[in-house]
Formats: sequence, C-alpha cells, structure tokens
Amino acid sequence: MNSSYINAAVGAFLAVAFVVMTVSIASDAIFSSGHPEAEGWALEAGEGLPGSATAEASGGGIEPIAPLLASASVEGGQRAFRKCQACHTVDEGGANRVGPNLWDIVDRPIAAADGFGYSTAMTDYAEGGEKKWDYEDLNGFLAAPKKFMKGTAMGFAGLKKDTERADVIAYLRSLSSEPAPLPSADAPAAAEETASEEPASDEAASSEEEKPAETATE
Ligand code: HEC
Repeated sequence: MNSSYINAAVGAFLAVAFVVMTVSIASDAIFSSGHPEAEGWALEAGEGLPGSATAEASGGGIEPIAPLLASASVEGGQRAFRKCQACHTVDEGGANRVGPNLWDIVDRPIAAADGFGYSTAMTDYAEGGEKKWDYEDLNGFLAAPKKFMKGTAMGFAGLKKDTERADVIAYLRSLSSEPAPLPSADAPAAAEETASEEPASDEAASSEEEKPAETATE
C-alpha cells in the first residue's frame, strides 16, 4: 500500500518534470530560431559574396578593394552615400559640415579641406600632408573608421559590406573633374581595361563568343 502510494507520487513527479523540461526545450527552440532573424548578419553573409565570408573568417581582415571596384556601381554608391550626407558635402567648393567637404577626395592629401578642424589622429595620419587618400586607405577607413584610425573624430560605425564600400568609393572617385585611375593591382579588371582600349579587342571578343557556342553544341 505504502510503496504503491510512493510509486504513484514518484510517477506523478516524473510526469510533471517531463512536461516542464519539454516546455522549456520547446521554448528554447523557439527562441533560438527567432533570434538570428532579428540580427541581420545571416542575411548579409548570404548575399552571394564569398569575399565577405573570407574577410570575416580571417578575423575581420578587409578585402582588397581593386577587384571589388571593377564591378562597383557609382549609382549604388550615390545611394549608399545618404549615410554620409548629414556630415559631408561632395560638390566642388562645398561647405564643410560636421565633416570636411569630399570633392576630389581620392588621391587628395589627407586632412586637407580648407578651414576644417581635423582631429590630431587625422593630421598625424596625414604625415604633414605627405600622404594621400589612396583606395586601400579609403577602404580601411570606411570599413571601420575608429578601428582604422584610432581617435578620429568621424562618428560613423563604418560600411561593413564589401560591395557597398566599393560602391561608395567608386562614387567618391567620380566626384572629380579628373577621376583618379582605378587601382591596377593584380586585378583581371586591369587586363580587361587595356584589352578594350586596344584595336585587337574585337578579335578577342569574337573568339570569346565562339567558345560558349562550341561547348553548347557538344
Ligand atoms: C557623424 C558625421 C559623419 C558621418 C556620418 C560620416 N563622416 Fe566622414 N568625417 C566626419 C568627420 C568629423 C571627419 C574628420 C575626422 C577627423 O578629423 O578625425 C570625417 C572625415 C572623412 C574623410 C577624410 C577627409 C579628409 O579630408 O581627409 C573621409 C574620406 C570621409 N570622412 C568619408 C565619409 C564617408 C564616405 C561617409 C559615409 C559612408 C562618412 N564619411 C560619414 C564625419 C562624418
């Protein structure tokens, strides 16, 4: 009698414990599946750019900009530049706001906008006006201003997405009466460019067209 009562009590206890555990596991599952969706990182990584994954994996290293610039969009950059507009004008002779005017910024000496009070971090980086904004410096700076240049007064988190950053840099490059030459680095883009400037480019193009046709008939 006694022992069957205990058995029943233990059984009831186990049943309750089982229900509680099931509920908590289920709610955990609901939580953990809902959470990443709110973060937005997963979406960014999934946008088909293997470069961003590599950059992340190598501990936040930054993609070289040259290959990215080859396919960058000036219009996309102009759209993305809305994030910068509160602080920067881009027209020739435009006013300095919270940040300096950015006309002709690519290859412009660093910290050289007339009448703008730069931080010492920025003027130090400029090495007394010796150093210019090249593509890689802009790439690093715009990815994470405060990380790239400790102490900069630019209060902006950075353009984390490689393609967006490349677009913005392409846009900045276009803001000039004589846009700086694109970086020549290892890029196949450079080869493409020279090829299209040469008269032989027609031949190259037609032989390229033949290849897919051949493989298609096979
Ligand atoms: C909250 C205001 C703010 C925003 C937003 C901002 N900047 Fe800046 N930016 C500054 C300030 C301030 C400086 C000067 C920094 C210093 O002196 O350390 C600066 C400096 C710069 C410089 C160096 C200019 C020079 O003359 O050497 C570049 C390039 C630049 N910003 C680009 C951008 C781009 C591109 C964006 C948008 C993706 C952006 N900034 C967004 C405030 C801002």
